[in-house]
Amino acid sequence: VLFARERDRFLASLSALDGEPADHVPAARRSADRYAAIDVPGPGRFVNTPDTDPAVEANRTWGREILGRVAGSTLGAAAIDAARVTDPAALDALITGLREGTWGSLSAQERAAVLHRAGELLEARRADLLEVMASEAGKTLDQGDPEVSEAIDFAHFYAERGLELAHVDGARFVPARVTLVTPPWNFPVAIPAGSTLAALAAGSAVVLKPAQEAERCGAVLAEILWEAGVPRDALQLVQVDESTLGQTLIAHPHVDRVILTGAYETAELFRTFRPDLPLLAEASGKNSIIVTPSADLDLAVRDVVASAFGHAGQKCSAASLVILVGSVARSRRFRTQLLDAASSLVVGPPDDPQTQMGPLVAPASGKLLDGLTTLDEGEHWSLAPRRLDAAGQQWTPGIRSGVVRGSTSHRVEYFGPVLSVMTAETLDDAINIANDIDYGLTAGIQSLDPAEITTWIRRIQAGNLYVNRGITGAIVQRQPFGGWKKSAVGPGTKAGGPSYLLGLGSWEPSEATA
Ligand code: SER
Repeated sequence: VLFARERDRFLASLSALDGEPADHVPAARRSADRYAAIDVPGPGRFVNTPDTDPAVEANRTWGREILGRVAGSTLGAAAIDAARVTDPAALDALITGLREGTWGSLSAQERAAVLHRAGELLEARRADLLEVMASEAGKTLDQGDPEVSEAIDFAHFYAERGLELAHVDGARFVPARVTLVTPPWNFPVAIPAGSTLAALAAGSAVVLKPAQEAERCGAVLAEILWEAGVPRDALQLVQVDESTLGQTLIAHPHVDRVILTGAYETAELFRTFRPDLPLLAEASGKNSIIVTPSADLDLAVRDVVASAFGHAGQKCSAASLVILVGSVARSRRFRTQLLDAASSLVVGPPDDPQTQMGPLVAPASGKLLDGLTTLDEGEHWSLAPRRLDAAGQQWTPGIRSGVVRGSTSHRVEYFGPVLSVMTAETLDDAINIANDIDYGLTAGIQSLDPAEITTWIRRIQAGNLYVNRGITGAIVQRQPFGGWKKSAVGPGTKAGGPSYLLGLGSWEPSEATA
C-alpha cells in the first residue's frame, strides 16, 4: 500500500513546505505550490527508456529513497460489489428510494454541514485517494495530489453556494429530485466529487455511476461521502453494464438531471436515449496555446509541456496545439527547447515519485493510436512517440510539425500525449487557426505585450483562458471551468463557479410574494 510505512512523514514534509496559512488559500493552490518544491534526491531518472532494458530497473531504484509502492488496493471493493446492478427492477427500486429520500427537505444549513465535513474527510483520506488513483487509473502522484485538493475545494465551495440558494427573496429554489452523475476516468476523484457535491448542495439526491475504468475511485469517494453523513437515500453508487442497463439508467423517467463529463459524442448518444434529457455536459476540447515573439520563451516551453503531456495528455483541458507566431515560428530556439523538454520527461509507472508522465489508462486504440503512429500529408515528427510496453499503454511524448490547417491534427482531439505544432505570420492568423475548431474549452497565450493579450482575449473562442500559465488545472472559485461551442452541452454553467447549482433545479415564487 502506497506510503504504508512512510506516508505520515511524507505528508508532514509536504505540509512543512506550505508557507501559506491554510484557511486563506484554496486547497488546490496550496498543493500546487508545495508540489513545486518537491525534489526527490538522487540520480535515478527513468528517461524514455524501454521497460525491457535491464539498466532501467537498476536506475529506477538506485541512489534514492523509495517512499512506497502501490499494491492492489482493496479500498472500496465492498462498495463496488454492492453497487453492481444487473436488472431493471433493481435499478427502478434504487431510483425510487432516492426520489423518496429526505435530503431535499433538510435545511440548507444541515446539508452544508455535511458537505463541509466531506471536505475534511477528503483531506484526511488524501493518501488513500492518491493510492487508488495511481493503482486504478494510472494517475501520477503530482497529478493526483492537486486533484484531491480540487475535490476538497468543491466540497467547501458548493456547501456555501447551497446556503446562498436558500436566501433569495421572493423565490424558492426547487432542486431536481434525482441527479445522475456520469463522470470520466481521467479525473476519477475531482470530477465525480464536484458533480456529486454540487447536486447534493442544491438539495438533489444523486446516483453516481463511475467510469468503468475508475470504479474503485468512485467507490472510495462514495464511502467518504457516506461517512461524512450523506445518507444512503441521498447518494447511491451504481455500476451497470453500459451496453445493457446504461441506456435504461440515463433515460429513466425519474432521473431529473444528468451531469456528464466526457466526449461530445457521448453527450449526443445520451440524447438519442432521451431527446429531452436535461443534460449538463462538459465535453471535448482541442485546445491551443499561442506563443508570440514577445513571450518569455523559457516559461512558454514549461507551460506548453506541462499542458500537453501532464497525465499523458489525457485531459479535456490539455494543450494539443501550439501555434507559433512570426519570428518564434521561423527561429529554431523555441522548437529546440520544446523538443529537449519533452524528450527529457521522466516516463514511468504512476506510483514512482519521479515519474512525470505516466501510462495511458488503457492501451492506445482508435484515433489516439493513429495520432501516435501515423502522419498526415505535409507532417513530420519533431519527436516521434515510442511505445515502451507490449500492450501499448506506456508511450513517450509525440510532437508533430508541419501540421496543415483543417487536417486531423489541427481539429481532432487525440486525448493522449500528442502535440501538434502550427505556425502563423501574425497573432490574428494564429487566433483564426485556434478558432477554426468545433470545440472551445481552454486556450492559452504566451505574450508579454498587453495589447496582444487584449486582442486575444477579445477574439479567442474558449471557456477558460489562461495568460502566461499552463492551460490545465482550473482552480475552484478562482477559475470556474467550462467551455463554448461543442465543449459544452446544456446550460453551459461552469463547474466550480457561482451559477453551477442553478442548473440543478428550478425557481418558483415563494409564498411571501405568491
Ligand atoms: N478541470 C480540469 C482542468 O482544468 C479539467 O477537467 O484541467
